[in-house]
Amino acid sequence: MKSKILDLLQLNSEGYLSGEQISDQLGISRTAVWKHIKALKNEGYIIDSVNNKGYKLLSDTDELNSSSLKALCNDFDFIQFIKFLDTVDSTNSEAKRIAMEEQVLEGLIVSSEQTKGKGRLGRQWESEKESGLWMSLLLRPKVKPEAASSITLVSAAAMAHAIEACTSLNVGIKWPNDLIVNGKKICGILTEMSAEINQLHYIVLGIGVNLGQMSFPVDIIDKATSLKKEGVEVSGKKILSAFLLAFSNFYSQYLEGDMSQIISYHLAHSVTVGKKVQIITPIETRNAYVLDINADGSLLVENELGENEVVFSGEVSV
Ligand code: BTN
Repeated sequence: MKSKILDLLQLNSEGYLSGEQISDQLGISRTAVWKHIKALKNEGYIIDSVNNKGYKLLSDTDELNSSSLKALCNDFDFIQFIKFLDTVDSTNSEAKRIAMEEQVLEGLIVSSEQTKGKGRLGRQWESEKESGLWMSLLLRPKVKPEAASSITLVSAAAMAHAIEACTSLNVGIKWPNDLIVNGKKICGILTEMSAEINQLHYIVLGIGVNLGQMSFPVDIIDKATSLKKEGVEVSGKKILSAFLLAFSNFYSQYLEGDMSQIISYHLAHSVTVGKKVQIITPIETRNAYVLDINADGSLLVENELGENEVVFSGEVSV
């Protein structure tokens, strides 16, 4: 049915086709039409939806550019501006520059290339031209500063869901936010924030998904992978489209203070729970056994002394 709707939209590419026209022609309900349109958008088709006019296929190519990005982001109220760049030092740095100039807006920055891509713990993030999806969301959630770090879990769950929706791969989550395919990292998330003791100003959620690399620098060659290396060719646009839908859903739950579905998603995809791990912080590295992910997103571990301990941040090495 989805492909029949796509055919109709392609035949009417000059104008809008109403939900009623589609439902009459295909003999399905308007709710079914709406669901199929949503699924097509999820697959990366850019379909403009206008009240009282209907639907128009804007682009069915996989190219990510300013106009396809704009159409892709239309439906999300946490994206009030978009910026598509050919090259930038780091989309996170660009998001922070925008945050300084603009006191209210939230939005999305995507770049084909980053010349100074940033990873966690001060590492560098390889971001060659058109080899991955390099993006940052600038968000201003109305939450307390201590709730800010769990947004990392929101984005990890949403991106894991997006990759699984667009490919046949199984995606594991290494707490709090590395996405793993066949034992290697395919996506990393760097969350940065600006806050005072009791007031959050903004969060920058930087996400890098390896799409097309066939080789990696020698220091990460055993640890990193890309969708292409895993035998899947899928565009950044499709991944982004699926991510935004999933993120919008999990993010509204997060804003309502409900982390239950997000935590369940993490537990179902976790590659760390039930494992002996190393916990790496800027200060130390130590061994622990992971027992659970708590309701607030923190990690419950048994430490080297056999005591239960809660870990709020840090990197975990399996
Ligand atoms: C990690 O170390 O796992 C985090 C990697 C985060 C990389 C992304 S790519 C887009 C955004 N801009 C950056 O400079 N970093 C993040």
